[in-house]
Amino acid sequence: MNPINHVAIIMDGNGRWGLKNKNSRNEGHKAGLVALEKIIRQTIDQKIKYLTLYVFSTENWKRPKEEINFLFNLLESFLKDKIEDLHKKNIKLKVIGKKKNFSKRLNYLLNLSEKKTYKNKKLQVNLALNYGSKYELIQSLKSIVKKKININEKNIQKNLYTKNIPNPDILIRTGGTNRLSNFLLWQIAYSEIFFEKKMWPDFNENDYLKIIKKFKLIKRNFGNI
Ligand code: IPE
Ligand code: IPE
Ligand code: MG
Repeated sequence: MNPINHVAIIMDGNGRWGLKNKNSRNEGHKAGLVALEKIIRQTIDQKIKYLTLYVFSTENWKRPKEEINFLFNLLESFLKDKIEDLHKKNIKLKVIGKKKNFSKRLNYLLNLSEKKTYKNKKLQVNLALNYGSKYELIQSLKSIVKKKININEKNIQKNLYTKNIPNPDILIRTGGTNRLSNFLLWQIAYSEIFFEKKMWPDFNENDYLKIIKKFKLIKRNFGNI
Protein backbone atom coordinates (compact mmCIF):
# COMPACT_ATOMS: atom_id res chain seq x y z
CA MET A 1 0.00 0.00 0.00
CA ASN A 2 1.23 3.47 -0.86
CA PRO A 3 2.40 5.58 2.07
CA ILE A 4 1.10 9.16 2.26
CA ASN A 5 3.45 11.90 3.33
CA HIS A 6 1.87 14.92 1.75
CA VAL A 7 -1.64 15.93 0.67
CA ALA A 8 -2.29 19.16 -1.25
CA ILE A 9 -5.77 20.64 -1.60
CA ILE A 10 -7.32 23.23 -3.89
CA MET A 11 -10.24 24.19 -1.67
CA ASP A 12 -12.54 25.48 -4.41
CA GLY A 13 -16.29 26.16 -4.44
CA ASN A 14 -16.79 28.34 -1.36
CA GLY A 15 -18.34 31.20 -3.31
CA ARG A 16 -20.84 29.06 -5.18
CA TRP A 17 -21.75 27.17 -2.01
CA GLY A 18 -22.32 30.45 -0.16
CA LEU A 19 -24.47 31.95 -2.90
CA LYS A 20 -26.60 28.83 -3.15
CA ASN A 21 -27.06 28.20 0.57
CA LYS A 22 -26.76 31.60 2.26
CA ASN A 23 -27.12 34.07 -0.59
CA SER A 24 -23.61 35.36 0.08
CA ARG A 25 -20.23 34.30 -1.29
CA ASN A 26 -18.55 35.38 1.94
CA GLU A 27 -20.72 33.04 4.01
CA GLY A 28 -19.27 30.30 1.81
CA HIS A 29 -15.76 31.28 2.81
CA LYS A 30 -16.78 31.06 6.47
CA ALA A 31 -18.27 27.61 5.94
CA GLY A 32 -15.07 26.62 4.15
CA LEU A 33 -13.11 27.20 7.34
CA VAL A 34 -15.35 24.82 9.28
CA ALA A 35 -14.74 22.15 6.64
CA LEU A 36 -11.03 22.81 6.85
CA GLU A 37 -10.82 22.17 10.56
CA LYS A 38 -12.36 18.72 10.10
CA ILE A 39 -9.91 17.88 7.35
CA ILE A 40 -6.93 18.99 9.43
CA ARG A 41 -8.09 16.71 12.24
CA GLN A 42 -8.46 13.77 9.89
CA THR A 43 -5.04 14.46 8.37
CA ILE A 44 -3.52 14.10 11.83
CA ASP A 45 -5.51 10.93 12.48
CA GLN A 46 -4.17 9.50 9.22
CA LYS A 47 -0.61 10.30 10.38
CA ILE A 48 0.06 12.39 7.28
CA LYS A 49 2.98 14.76 7.85
CA TYR A 50 2.33 17.58 5.35
CA LEU A 51 -0.87 19.30 4.26
CA THR A 52 -0.67 22.11 1.69
CA LEU A 53 -3.75 24.32 1.29
CA TYR A 54 -4.45 26.70 -1.55
CA VAL A 55 -5.86 29.70 0.30
CA PHE A 56 -5.28 32.64 -2.07
CA SER A 57 -3.68 32.65 -5.50
CA THR A 58 -1.65 35.35 -7.22
CA GLU A 59 -4.63 35.61 -9.60
CA ASN A 60 -7.24 36.03 -6.83
CA TRP A 61 -6.34 39.76 -6.61
CA LYS A 62 -8.63 40.15 -9.62
CA ARG A 63 -11.63 39.65 -7.31
CA PRO A 64 -13.72 42.53 -5.91
CA LYS A 65 -11.94 44.39 -3.13
CA GLU A 66 -14.74 43.62 -0.72
CA GLU A 67 -14.30 39.86 -1.10
CA ILE A 68 -10.52 40.12 -0.84
CA ASN A 69 -10.82 42.14 2.38
CA PHE A 70 -13.28 39.66 3.80
CA LEU A 71 -10.96 36.75 3.05
CA PHE A 72 -7.95 38.35 4.69
CA ASN A 73 -9.99 39.43 7.73
CA LEU A 74 -11.23 35.88 8.03
CA LEU A 75 -7.69 34.58 7.92
CA GLU A 76 -6.65 37.08 10.59
CA SER A 77 -9.40 36.02 12.98
CA PHE A 78 -8.66 32.37 12.26
CA LEU A 79 -5.03 32.84 13.25
CA LYS A 80 -5.94 34.88 16.34
CA ASP A 81 -8.52 32.34 17.51
CA LYS A 82 -6.79 29.12 16.61
CA ILE A 83 -3.05 29.53 16.83
CA GLU A 84 -2.89 28.44 20.49
CA ASP A 85 -4.95 25.37 19.70
CA LEU A 86 -2.90 24.49 16.61
CA HIS A 87 0.25 24.90 18.66
CA LYS A 88 -1.12 22.61 21.39
CA LYS A 89 -1.88 20.03 18.74
CA ASN A 90 1.80 20.15 17.74
CA ILE A 91 1.02 21.60 14.29
CA LYS A 92 3.57 23.67 12.41
CA LEU A 93 2.29 26.48 10.19
CA LYS A 94 4.24 27.67 7.18
CA VAL A 95 3.30 30.25 4.58
CA ILE A 96 4.24 29.59 0.99
CA GLY A 97 3.77 32.49 -1.40
CA LYS A 98 4.64 36.13 -1.83
CA LYS A 99 4.23 37.62 1.65
CA LYS A 100 4.79 41.23 0.72
CA ASN A 101 1.33 42.23 -0.50
CA PHE A 102 -0.46 41.72 2.84
CA SER A 103 -1.38 44.29 5.46
CA LYS A 104 1.14 44.90 8.22
CA ARG A 105 -1.22 43.30 10.72
CA LEU A 106 -1.62 40.11 8.75
CA ASN A 107 2.10 39.90 8.08
CA TYR A 108 2.79 40.26 11.77
CA LEU A 109 0.29 37.52 12.64
CA LEU A 110 1.66 35.18 9.98
CA ASN A 111 5.24 35.66 11.15
CA LEU A 112 4.20 35.20 14.76
CA SER A 113 2.31 31.98 13.94
CA GLU A 114 5.25 30.60 11.98
CA LYS A 115 7.72 31.40 14.73
CA LYS A 116 5.52 30.04 17.50
CA THR A 117 4.92 26.71 15.78
CA TYR A 118 8.31 26.35 14.12
CA LYS A 119 9.44 23.35 16.14
CA ASN A 120 6.18 21.44 16.04
CA LYS A 121 6.37 17.96 14.65
CA LYS A 122 3.00 16.28 14.28
CA LEU A 123 1.77 17.93 11.07
CA GLN A 124 3.07 20.75 8.90
CA VAL A 125 0.32 22.85 7.37
CA ASN A 126 1.48 24.95 4.44
CA LEU A 127 -0.78 27.90 3.70
CA ALA A 128 -0.44 28.83 0.04
CA LEU A 129 -1.13 32.54 0.29
CA ASN A 130 -0.65 34.90 -2.60
CA TYR A 131 0.80 31.78 -4.15
CA GLY A 132 1.40 31.17 -7.82
CA SER A 133 3.41 28.31 -9.20
CA LYS A 134 4.78 30.27 -12.15
CA TYR A 135 6.03 33.05 -9.88
CA GLU A 136 7.58 30.44 -7.56
CA LEU A 137 9.46 28.84 -10.47
CA ILE A 138 10.71 32.20 -11.75
CA GLN A 139 11.98 33.03 -8.25
CA SER A 140 13.71 29.68 -8.03
CA LEU A 141 15.47 30.21 -11.35
CA LYS A 142 16.48 33.74 -10.36
CA SER A 143 18.05 32.45 -7.12
CA ILE A 144 19.94 29.83 -9.08
CA VAL A 145 21.33 32.41 -11.47
CA LYS A 146 22.28 34.68 -8.56
CA LYS A 147 24.06 31.84 -6.76
CA LYS A 148 25.85 30.93 -10.00
CA ILE A 149 24.94 27.27 -9.61
CA ASN A 150 23.75 24.82 -12.27
CA ILE A 151 20.19 24.83 -13.51
CA ASN A 152 19.15 21.27 -12.77
CA GLU A 153 16.23 19.46 -11.17
CA LYS A 154 17.79 19.31 -7.73
CA ASN A 155 18.65 23.02 -7.63
CA ILE A 156 15.25 24.10 -8.94
CA GLN A 157 13.56 22.01 -6.25
CA LYS A 158 15.90 23.37 -3.58
CA ASN A 159 14.98 26.95 -4.40
CA LEU A 160 11.20 26.61 -4.38
CA TYR A 161 9.06 27.62 -1.39
CA THR A 162 8.59 23.90 -0.85
CA LYS A 163 12.26 23.08 -0.40
CA ASN A 164 12.65 20.42 2.33
CA ILE A 165 9.05 19.27 1.78
CA PRO A 166 8.37 16.02 -0.11
CA ASN A 167 6.25 16.43 -3.24
CA PRO A 168 2.51 15.81 -2.75
CA ASP A 169 1.36 12.22 -3.06
CA ILE A 170 -2.24 13.32 -3.42
CA LEU A 171 -3.74 16.47 -4.92
CA ILE A 172 -7.44 17.09 -4.30
CA ARG A 173 -9.51 19.79 -6.02
CA THR A 174 -13.09 20.27 -4.92
CA GLY A 175 -15.64 22.44 -6.71
CA GLY A 176 -16.24 20.48 -9.88
CA THR A 177 -13.68 21.95 -12.26
CA ASN A 178 -10.77 19.93 -13.55
CA ARG A 179 -7.93 22.42 -13.58
CA LEU A 180 -4.83 23.32 -11.59
CA SER A 181 -5.11 27.13 -11.48
CA ASN A 182 -1.37 27.72 -11.08
CA PHE A 183 -0.94 25.47 -8.02
CA LEU A 184 2.29 23.49 -7.42
CA LEU A 185 2.85 22.79 -11.10
CA TRP A 186 6.40 21.52 -10.58
CA GLN A 187 5.70 19.57 -7.39
CA ILE A 188 2.72 17.56 -8.68
CA ALA A 189 4.52 16.00 -11.65
CA TYR A 190 3.82 12.55 -10.15
CA SER A 191 0.99 13.24 -7.71
CA GLU A 192 -2.27 11.32 -7.92
CA ILE A 193 -4.98 13.85 -8.72
CA PHE A 194 -8.56 13.65 -7.45
CA PHE A 195 -11.20 16.05 -8.79
CA GLU A 196 -14.26 16.26 -6.55
CA LYS A 197 -17.66 17.51 -7.64
CA LYS A 198 -18.58 18.69 -4.14
CA MET A 199 -18.03 22.32 -3.20
CA TRP A 200 -15.36 22.72 -0.49
CA PRO A 201 -17.76 23.46 2.44
CA ASP A 202 -19.54 20.16 1.70
CA PHE A 203 -16.33 18.12 1.55
CA ASN A 204 -16.13 15.97 4.68
CA GLU A 205 -14.03 13.33 6.42
CA ASN A 206 -15.77 10.52 4.56
CA ASP A 207 -14.98 12.03 1.17
CA TYR A 208 -11.41 12.45 2.32
CA LEU A 209 -11.14 8.88 3.59
CA LYS A 210 -12.54 7.54 0.32
CA ILE A 211 -9.80 9.31 -1.61
CA ILE A 212 -7.14 8.03 0.77
CA LYS A 213 -8.45 4.49 0.36
CA LYS A 214 -8.39 4.77 -3.43
CA PHE A 215 -4.94 6.28 -3.39
CA LYS A 216 -3.51 3.45 -1.33
CA LEU A 217 -4.42 0.94 -4.02
CA ILE A 218 -3.04 2.84 -7.03
CA LYS A 219 -0.03 1.38 -8.79
CA ARG A 220 2.39 4.29 -8.93
CA ASN A 221 4.92 3.75 -11.70
CA PHE A 222 7.02 6.92 -11.77
CA GLY A 223 7.88 6.01 -15.34
CA ASN A 224 8.79 2.42 -14.52
CA ILE A 225 6.57 -0.54 -15.36
C1 IPE B 1 -12.10 29.04 -3.22
O1 IPE B 1 -13.45 29.22 -3.42
C2 IPE B 1 -11.55 29.98 -2.19
C3 IPE B 1 -10.70 31.05 -2.76
C4 IPE B 1 -10.31 31.15 -4.00
C5 IPE B 1 -10.28 32.06 -1.85
P1 IPE B 1 -13.98 30.26 -4.49
O2 IPE B 1 -14.13 31.57 -3.85
O3 IPE B 1 -13.15 30.24 -5.72
O4 IPE B 1 -15.41 29.65 -4.80
P2 IPE B 1 -16.09 29.54 -6.21
O5 IPE B 1 -15.19 28.73 -7.08
O6 IPE B 1 -16.26 30.94 -6.72
O7 IPE B 1 -17.38 28.86 -5.95
C1 IPE C 1 -8.09 28.35 -7.00
O1 IPE C 1 -9.44 28.61 -7.11
C2 IPE C 1 -7.49 29.15 -5.90
C3 IPE C 1 -7.88 28.77 -4.55
C4 IPE C 1 -8.64 27.80 -4.22
C5 IPE C 1 -7.28 29.57 -3.50
P1 IPE C 1 -10.00 29.73 -8.11
O2 IPE C 1 -11.44 29.79 -7.92
O3 IPE C 1 -9.23 31.00 -7.96
O4 IPE C 1 -9.63 29.11 -9.53
P2 IPE C 1 -10.20 29.47 -10.96
O5 IPE C 1 -10.09 30.95 -11.15
O6 IPE C 1 -11.62 29.01 -11.00
O7 IPE C 1 -9.36 28.69 -11.92
MG1 MG D 1 -13.22 29.17 -7.44
